[in-house]
Amino acid sequence: MNQAERQAQSLDPDDWTELRAQGHRMLDDMFDNLASLADRPLWQPPTAEQRARCRAALPRGPGRLEDAHAQFMADVAPYGSGNRHPGFMGWVQGGGTAVGMLAEMLAGGLDANLGGRDHMPIEMERQVVAWMAELFGFGPQASGIFLTGTSLANLCAVMIARDRALGVEVRSIGVRDPGVAAYASKAVHACIVRAMDMTGLGTDRLRLIETDAEGRIRPDALAAAIAADRAAGLKPFLVVGSAGTVDIGAIDDLDALADIAAREGATFHVDGALGALGVLSPAVAPRLKGIERADSLALDFHKLGQAPYDAGLLLVRDAAAHKRTFSYGDAPYLRHSERGLAGGAWWPCDFGPDLSRGFRALKVWFMLKTYGLDALGEVIGRTCDLAQELARRVEASPELELLAPVGLNIVCFGYRGADNAAIVADLQEAGRVAPSTTTLAGRTAIRAAIINHRTGVADIEALVEGVLALGRTQVGRR
Ligand SMILES: Cc1ncc(COP(=O)(O)O)c(C=O)c1O
Repeated sequence: MNQAERQAQSLDPDDWTELRAQGHRMLDDMFDNLASLADRPLWQPPTAEQRARCRAALPRGPGRLEDAHAQFMADVAPYGSGNRHPGFMGWVQGGGTAVGMLAEMLAGGLDANLGGRDHMPIEMERQVVAWMAELFGFGPQASGIFLTGTSLANLCAVMIARDRALGVEVRSIGVRDPGVAAYASKAVHACIVRAMDMTGLGTDRLRLIETDAEGRIRPDALAAAIAADRAAGLKPFLVVGSAGTVDIGAIDDLDALADIAAREGATFHVDGALGALGVLSPAVAPRLKGIERADSLALDFHKLGQAPYDAGLLLVRDAAAHKRTFSYGDAPYLRHSERGLAGGAWWPCDFGPDLSRGFRALKVWFMLKTYGLDALGEVIGRTCDLAQELARRVEASPELELLAPVGLNIVCFGYRGADNAAIVADLQEAGRVAPSTTTLAGRTAIRAAIINHRTGVADIEALVEGVLALGRTQVGRR
């Protein structure tokens, strides 16, 4: 078969000139889109026509790439969820970067499957894992794996802790009467609760411990809960610390939790989705002391790390325990060999639930090589400073009230006497700033999670002015 015949059978063009030119236009459009984020509304709901256009007939025949791209630029790009915009403060989401986007394009071009085998993309993932193991004081023997996000990384950590406590036979015989209990603060992210469900241990075996005035787990209450469980014949198998709680960004006393877990022979896992990368900021790092003592750590590069979605990471101190939980066994077609493409010492499919997996690590590698860890640390420090600035403005206004301490970069506040959920929905629809809401002590709070590297003082001002204007209108109307 000659070259022309081969190409005629594949999805590649015979001549790449036109595709290359269209590719440049697509890239240029996206750079322009990124460079002008602040000039457009942060969010706007898709119109009924756009939703209808998207619901097209099954495309059996070919179409033009230009047309598909034109539809993307007209109907999709302007109607995203807005997390790239400098005024975005909803939930806890990073803003992405142009370098991360370019790396995603390269990863797509390479089309590497990082489930296993002997190839350089796996070495690159191992490199990023090794950097993170060094950064978090886990040492060179630690293992780690990229996953979709911290929800999955936390689930994997609970599985490793479960197998450590119940024995790896649990993988074959299943969970019968576990006789074990796990502990986390009552402010822990719901995915830890879900992990207890999904591992078959049961959510009832997760003790949600009281927090102090700063929203951190109370070590005395934790010790009391453990003593009560021991008296009832249960074995404490897992202590989860939060390095940044989802509602208010509180950082548990990780050193105290490490002491308690060590004393009880329990696994110590840290959910660092929100705050672990704070170690990069000299202002935040001291408050994360103890993170280096964790048996496992989950974190997200798509939050404070500003990588495009998705990029979660699980680090595990005991690589052998990590592998015991996920090793694929000896499926014949996945046998690792001494030589050839099926060689390679480290197959990620033995360290996580996925077999086929993409090259998530590449965007993080590019970003670390291009921006450097110090620049990311500065961004994190700045978002914390902006949160303090917002808290000062809230406290300076008699109409506003701060509803939680500001531990990291999340500010929960409200307009006195107003419907804060309605204020938030109005702000989102106006498209300049977008906080979200949460419920604290039964009250709806406006929650501003300042994560995005593009957010500045002008956005904080716009938020405060927007809340004041909407709150006054609401209260005046009554
Ligand atoms: C503290 C905490 N843990 C876990 C998660 C879940 O992370 P992901 O959305 O990456 O799965 C979040 C998400 O916001 C979080 O804030």
